[in-house]
Amino acid sequence: MNTQLLIDTARKLVADNKGLLAMDESNPTCDKRFAKLNIPQTLEARRAYRELIVTTPGLGECISGAILYDETIRQQKKDGTPFLKVLTDAGIIPGIKVDAGAKDLAAHPGEKITEGLDGLRDRLAEYFQMGARFAKWRAVLTIGDDIPSRSCIEANAHALARYAALCQEAGMVPIVEPEVLMDGDHTLEVCRKVTEEVLRNVFIQLNCQRVMLEGMILKPNMVLPGLTCPPRQEVKEVGIGEQQYQVRLTDRQPDEEQDIDEVADITVKTLWRTVPAAVPGIAFLSGGQSAELASARLNLMNLRFKSQLPWAVSFSFARAIQQPALEIWRGLEANVKAAQQALLHRARCNRAARRGEYTAAMEKK
Ligand code: G3H
Repeated sequence: MNTQLLIDTARKLVADNKGLLAMDESNPTCDKRFAKLNIPQTLEARRAYRELIVTTPGLGECISGAILYDETIRQQKKDGTPFLKVLTDAGIIPGIKVDAGAKDLAAHPGEKITEGLDGLRDRLAEYFQMGARFAKWRAVLTIGDDIPSRSCIEANAHALARYAALCQEAGMVPIVEPEVLMDGDHTLEVCRKVTEEVLRNVFIQLNCQRVMLEGMILKPNMVLPGLTCPPRQEVKEVGIGEQQYQVRLTDRQPDEEQDIDEVADITVKTLWRTVPAAVPGIAFLSGGQSAELASARLNLMNLRFKSQLPWAVSFSFARAIQQPALEIWRGLEANVKAAQQALLHRARCNRAARRGEYTAAMEKK
């Protein structure tokens, strides 16, 4: 195992307040996002969109590494220049998604296990040969009635660790992504408990499979309430004589600032309890948050805690960087420049968030 190469690559991926751009949507996921915007779901449309991304002027100022999909890593610009060359010329390290997707976990209704370990050693060797220096594997955990089960958490943690060990053997930094999904009506506290349990299991398995923590990056979810979590109820104690009554004043959505505050605090505390200091970086997924909220929450974590944290707190966003650009592009050549500006804007906002210098005013410019 080339220990020094792994340590150097992992450090470069989180250096200089830059972050990762996840552009590794599988063809079905990419097509689904195109369909919503009436963009043709073709090989050429996916290629053109990925060309728009990798040729964005200035992207390398904010992005240290780009995660590609198998189709994309083999593609070229219209003029024949391989995407891999475009990225490396821009100072961006190419990475590759290597899992084969989340499939139903047998005997566990509603739960998934990520597949793709068969033949992985050979695939990694090919990707390394092509120039990829890091890889990604995503496990998904759903919160619901009595789930995630212990067996689902353990099976996914085990697969993540087997993948990570194979990556390091091949000289590639593993991005270890256990995603607790936002779908559901669970509270922030439930997400915290589940995330903590998942991360504990992941690190037990990583140690068990002898993964070198200095040569990996963790890609977790932020700790968030479920998308359909009912609004919190504001309750006030009122007293008459000795008798106390609890009066529900309103059903209210937490106001945004309080929400950002709480999410930043609880997320950092959860990571603090579970992620060893030897890990060089934590790069969050965005998971369906709005682009602005993802930046604001990342910003507050760095603003409040950066000087006390052993690891870099960074980003590895897909939707929270790409979505505004995709909505501008809509498959039209005439929109490429404006879409690239939107992409660069999000990348800059997230780099600022790594420094704790992101402000709402940046969005108004
Ligand atoms: O695996 C998921 C992506 O790498 C992150 O995507 O930021 O849209 O959640 P997201």
